[in-house]
Amino acid sequence: MLNALICGIGGKMGRNIFEILQNDEKMRVVCGVDPHTPEGINVPVYADFKHINEDVDVIIDFSSPAALEGELAYATAKGVPAVIASTGFSQEQLEAIKEASKKTAIFKTANFSLGVNLMVNLVKKAADVLGENFDVEIIERHHNKKVDAPSGTALMLAEAVNGEFAEKRNYVEGRSGMVGRRGNEIGIHAVRGGTIVGEHEVMFAGDDEIITVTHSARSKRVFAAGAVKAAKWLPSKSAGMYDMNDLLKDIL
Ligand SMILES: NC(=O)c1ccc[n+]([C@@H]2O[C@H](COP(=O)([O-])OP(=O)(O)OC[C@H]3O[C@@H](n4cnc5c(N)ncnc54)[C@H](O)[C@@H]3O)[C@@H](O)[C@H]2O)c1
Repeated sequence: MLNALICGIGGKMGRNIFEILQNDEKMRVVCGVDPHTPEGINVPVYADFKHINEDVDVIIDFSSPAALEGELAYATAKGVPAVIASTGFSQEQLEAIKEASKKTAIFKTANFSLGVNLMVNLVKKAADVLGENFDVEIIERHHNKKVDAPSGTALMLAEAVNGEFAEKRNYVEGRSGMVGRRGNEIGIHAVRGGTIVGEHEVMFAGDDEIITVTHSARSKRVFAAGAVKAAKWLPSKSAGMYDMNDLLKDIL
């Protein structure tokens, strides 16, 4: 039985994972980290990583970039692998994650859905085939409580497309005013409203034709199930950075 710690256990995703693991035969939740003590969680919840007493085999983190420093200090000191699903990290924090992966296994993805990971491959193919003559615009839509913009998934899709171009494009987040002629850019646009779980659209607009690849998540369960799969897979891996491609190669 693997012992999991959920960072952000009181949040929407943390609770979802806590519930999924209630009747799991291979993994159980032994504690959580969350500065806001959540109701209805029957395992110890700590305000930070310094006070954890339980034996932990893997961390599942759906919280906030604010948790990262304590989490990496704990994970590297104890050699505990971490599945990092939070988004909105600074460049410095992304470097810190890479550094920590030299000491323990870290799984990081901005999106745990199989569909979005297929979409990454589809937009790479589209960028490769359509070439540099098509404008690329990414539109993402999320619920009105999401704190970061653009979404980590939109940035992941932009990176996938840009990786196919010989001449790299700049990211332009939203446009307003007299923006002038378009330069060598990928536009990224965030829409926030209601309870939208997560929608991503990558539009390739050329002369006289438009190709659009879209994905729509209808429930958070899709992310929670992917994260649990990753958390069961990661403890057998040695130190390093892992993502959905590594997991899918192994389990599909
Ligand atoms: N990778 C994916 O597939 C995926 C999918 C959904 C959400 N996310 C990301 O996961 C994160 C959480 O999403 P959510 O919808 O559950 O948000 P949420 O706001 O409902 O929950 C966040 C939780 O983290 C807690 N938290 C805040 N600061 C903390 C800290 N320093 N240490 C520990 N806990 C802390 C909050 O108290 C809250 O309970 C976001 O960054 C979101 O973008 C990723």
